Amino acid sequence: MKLQNKTTEIREKAKKHLSPVMTRVTELVIEKAKGARFWTADGDEYIDFVSGVAVNAVGHANDAMVDAIKKQAELFIHFGLNYGYYESAANLAEKIASITPGNLDTVFFSNSGGEAIDGALKLARAATGRPGIISFEGSFHGRTLGATAITASSSKYRKYYEPILGEVHHAPYPYPSQLKGVQEEEATSYCLHQLQKIFDLRIDPSRVAAVVIEPVMGEGGYFPAPPAFLQELRKITKQHGILLIFDEVQTGFGRTGKMFAAEHSGVNPDILVLAKALSGGMPLGAIVASREIHEKWPTGGHGSTFGGNPISCAAALANIHIIEAEKLVDRSKDLGARIVERLQQSLNGIQGIKEIRGLGMMIGLEFHEDIASHAVPVIKQKCLDHKLLIMNCGIQGQTIRLMLPLNINEVDLDQGLSILENAVKDTL
Ligand SMILES: Cc1ncc(COP(=O)(O)O)c(C=O)c1O
Repeated sequence: MKLQNKTTEIREKAKKHLSPVMTRVTELVIEKAKGARFWTADGDEYIDFVSGVAVNAVGHANDAMVDAIKKQAELFIHFGLNYGYYESAANLAEKIASITPGNLDTVFFSNSGGEAIDGALKLARAATGRPGIISFEGSFHGRTLGATAITASSSKYRKYYEPILGEVHHAPYPYPSQLKGVQEEEATSYCLHQLQKIFDLRIDPSRVAAVVIEPVMGEGGYFPAPPAFLQELRKITKQHGILLIFDEVQTGFGRTGKMFAAEHSGVNPDILVLAKALSGGMPLGAIVASREIHEKWPTGGHGSTFGGNPISCAAALANIHIIEAEKLVDRSKDLGARIVERLQQSLNGIQGIKEIRGLGMMIGLEFHEDIASHAVPVIKQKCLDHKLLIMNCGIQGQTIRLMLPLNINEVDLDQGLSILENAVKDTL
């Protein structure tokens, strides 16, 4: 009774004073989380297949991260990176330079993914002196105004904010599995043709500062871009002096079975945008580019009070150390393949499932359009009733996406997958 009261009190207070603008997926009141599990104020225990939307790659409240956070907090909590240097930020920038592809060796720290995207757009414009930005239909880049302008995964994200940012053009994203019977090569050449049409009809390539792409589309539906498309994009952007920006906010740090999704195609972007799993839960984003590009950004042209916060940087260093020491990138590749295989077998032949696909532990379970809007919410609720938190994505919300911690243990994994399998079988 007493616990119930606590839940009600917190929920009512939150409902009264937190803005209703944010979509609330559940009404749960969370008290504690550890690994792939969390507990509510009512004392109920859940398995978490969302990980704070692909943030907690090493699980909730990882001991080594908690230690690093405590240690840094005892030294100092905030200083401001424009008033000097400190060890956690310098070490993290060096670490990022050593693990990112190509010649990306210089970092600007922000507080979130969207903020880092906005900064990357500013950097691209400043470095090239050009206004144009090309991004892709179905993509999601965040909620700040620049990120909103290049996002095209739902008109609701843009409604009421128009006109947002000038000279943004959207090209189609090559997701062959969404177009029945269309092969990867066909989708690639169609999308490259449409990009050329943008150059021919709307903006001359010499006026384009950057092309921004998620190498694996996240919020838009968990679609990996064909490597050949990214390779062609690299050639085209180089040819026209356009900067290629990879948004790896969701795909970075082992999620796709490589440290960065860029490695699947061998394409080195000019600017890499990171956040989410970078710091495993502390607010942090990063704009990573070569020294040469960063030096074209005039000093004072960008900044941040909290960006590169010492605790966030210390947490990120501990987080990356765990990913490397526990070989979680390899685990993501192997375990991801095993999960996809298990789901393909256990859900084999069930009407309504369009495709089960994955790249590492970025796994999508896509349903046919005609049933998705009814079936997916029912499956989500059934999972929640059985104490599993899952989330969906896709333009019609048609894909259940699994974002498990990369170090999830076998017991939590098996229990969670069984709940999901039963919910799907029970619904379809
Ligand atoms: C690919 C991608 N870019 C950018 C963002 C925005 O990140 P944040 O919510 O930290 O601003 C997200 C968030 O879901 C994302 O998935």
